[in-house]
Amino acid sequence: MSSSAAMKKDLREVIEGLQQPEKMISPKYFYDERGSKLFEEITRLPEYYPTETELAIMRDNIDEISELAGAQASLIEFGSGSSLKTRVLLEHLRDLAVYVPVDISADHLLESAAQLRHDFPGLEILPVVADFTRPFALPNPKIMPLRNIVYFPGSTIGNFTDDAALDLLQVMHQEAGESGALLIGVDLQKDPDIIEQAYNDSAGITAEFNLNVLRHLNRAFGADFSPAAFSHSAEYNKDEGRVELRLVSSEDQDVSIGSEEFLIEKDETILTEYSHKYTLEGFAAMAGKAGFDVARVWTDADELFSVQYCLRR
Ligand code: TRP
Repeated sequence: MSSSAAMKKDLREVIEGLQQPEKMISPKYFYDERGSKLFEEITRLPEYYPTETELAIMRDNIDEISELAGAQASLIEFGSGSSLKTRVLLEHLRDLAVYVPVDISADHLLESAAQLRHDFPGLEILPVVADFTRPFALPNPKIMPLRNIVYFPGSTIGNFTDDAALDLLQVMHQEAGESGALLIGVDLQKDPDIIEQAYNDSAGITAEFNLNVLRHLNRAFGADFSPAAFSHSAEYNKDEGRVELRLVSSEDQDVSIGSEEFLIEKDETILTEYSHKYTLEGFAAMAGKAGFDVARVWTDADELFSVQYCLRR
């Protein structure tokens, strides 16, 4: 597809989202250059417990993780591998055959792969530019891997709808291959106040991150959203077990994008993302449907977050 055809398709999808009964914008528009920087800041916020908690779980249990992974595994990360958690694995897994980070954003992927090559000179690193929600071909490493381990940190699984999360787990199942495994970060259900604070930080970074989708659409498609006329909302929906991120219009306003005009009423909302939180049983049931058995679960003392090792059935 030519880039202008791809752009027309993207614009059509954005317009379709804005024509839904509740308007929605795909979370992929969070991650332009500014959005990626804001996200980095989110991970360092005092209220945002997931990043630090997951990293501590990895560090505390790395010997056991390494034992389960065995020697000469292939580590296949869904995402660009720029996190500290990835480094913990690269430092501790024994005689890793190859590290394969997979990401749709080539720039970010190749930059982080170059940095890791510098820091781990003995390790073969074979980045794959691909949309990991669809099956992709694995590269051929010099050393034959004994087991594929798919790595998916950050509870990013929770940003997919239940159906899409199941589809993604099925892709992971396929990429793990015979005798493969999945190592995944899964955020847990807990006191709603703790969850809501994590997505409503006092510095307002998450709000800026959410509002940035409007700036991104303005730049990418010549839309004319006024970010100042929207506010950030993040509420925990207890029945659905998920945080729901929205932008709320503070006035009646007209917005144009492409050749379309939209009236957005005062108090009308635009849905931007879900972040599902799981019970251990709930996650095991979903993983089970995709053909994985949860073999080991590590959590922090307060059971805020979990890291789970799942085996292909
Ligand atoms: N997956 C993480 C979470 O849901 C990180 C994340 C994705 C996030 N989108 C976000 C954090 C939007 C804050 C706001 O928490």
